[in-house]
Amino acid sequence: MIEKVLAIETSCDDTSVAIVNRSGWVHSVVAASQDLEHEMYGGIVPEIAARNHSIALIPLIEEAFKKAGMTWSDVDGIAVTNRPGLIGALIVGLVTAKSLSQAKKIPFLGVNHLEGHLLAPFLKDAQYAPPEDFDYPYVGLAISGGHTSLYHITELGEYRVLGATKDDAAGECFDKFAKMAGLGFPGGQRIDQMAKTGNPKAYEFPRSMIHDETFDMSFSGLKSSGQRMLEQLGPELVQEHLPDLCASFQEAIVDVLIAKLERAAKVFRSKRVILTGGVSANSRLRARAEEWAAQKGLRLVIPPLRYCTDNAAMIGYVGALRMARGEFSELDLGPSPQALA
Ligand code: KG4
Ligand code: ZN
Repeated sequence: MIEKVLAIETSCDDTSVAIVNRSGWVHSVVAASQDLEHEMYGGIVPEIAARNHSIALIPLIEEAFKKAGMTWSDVDGIAVTNRPGLIGALIVGLVTAKSLSQAKKIPFLGVNHLEGHLLAPFLKDAQYAPPEDFDYPYVGLAISGGHTSLYHITELGEYRVLGATKDDAAGECFDKFAKMAGLGFPGGQRIDQMAKTGNPKAYEFPRSMIHDETFDMSFSGLKSSGQRMLEQLGPELVQEHLPDLCASFQEAIVDVLIAKLERAAKVFRSKRVILTGGVSANSRLRARAEEWAAQKGLRLVIPPLRYCTDNAAMIGYVGALRMARGEFSELDLGPSPQALA
């Protein structure tokens, strides 16, 4: 019987390992960030990500066991992200999981990273537990540097994609604007910080597809408009008006996300909504979403930041549930850049 699993997540630039049980209890979760290695390039360099995963992974596995006070004899399986993500980065986690599965004679399962994000609200630890009445079905918005998609989640494995960005992900849009404004990478958090003292109505930015009768989104027009605005103002004025520029740019993204969430909650008559992915760390989005949910009488769950951003705990939870119902991967499992492969 599968009760506890070791989980490995290496789909992008964070190396993360966790030990999780099938109720979502996180015995330990550890991670190595590579932000500093990528910052000088202004974005994630896939080859550097893969190389750093190969350096960090085994020591992190040892650390995860140590932190949980466990050994290999305590885990019944290995869960590993095998899609979607950067291929080189995924390969490091996948090959490690296969090798350990063979060496330790325990099964393994390839997990969809997005499924991990969608089930992250169920995770719990000594500091966090979801509300007691939280359960399926719910509407979920997964927003990060690589994805911006809206789902209707009815049970384990039943996720209907309602809509997604047609071009850039919301996080990517934050990061590109931050880079152009000289705020460095990754810039979402820095825009959030800067925007706190700015006026969200100071500058006019487009809210593409906000009234469109679908759940799809588009952020490339906003990105171009941001670029034009920064060019028109020139470096000195940009510097002087950064808080207003960041607050206005951020507001445009938040308006679109809330509008689409509202549409989904309405169409699916959902009383529960979740936000997940790195962008759900955004303080303005959180505040606006909470205000909106309270007004509509909806139950909003935003997992703590450690489970919103890329982490192995969410992969372990999905892996434990699926392995418990008899799903396992074979040794010929490959990585995939696509969510639906
Ligand atoms: O989920 P995540 O850690 O990794 C991906 O799968 O992409 O998300 C990272 C993204 C980056 O684009 C980052 O700029 C954004 O989340 N982000 C934020 C904030 N914190 C992280 N965006 C807006 N406001 C924040 N506070
Ligand atoms: Zn992610």
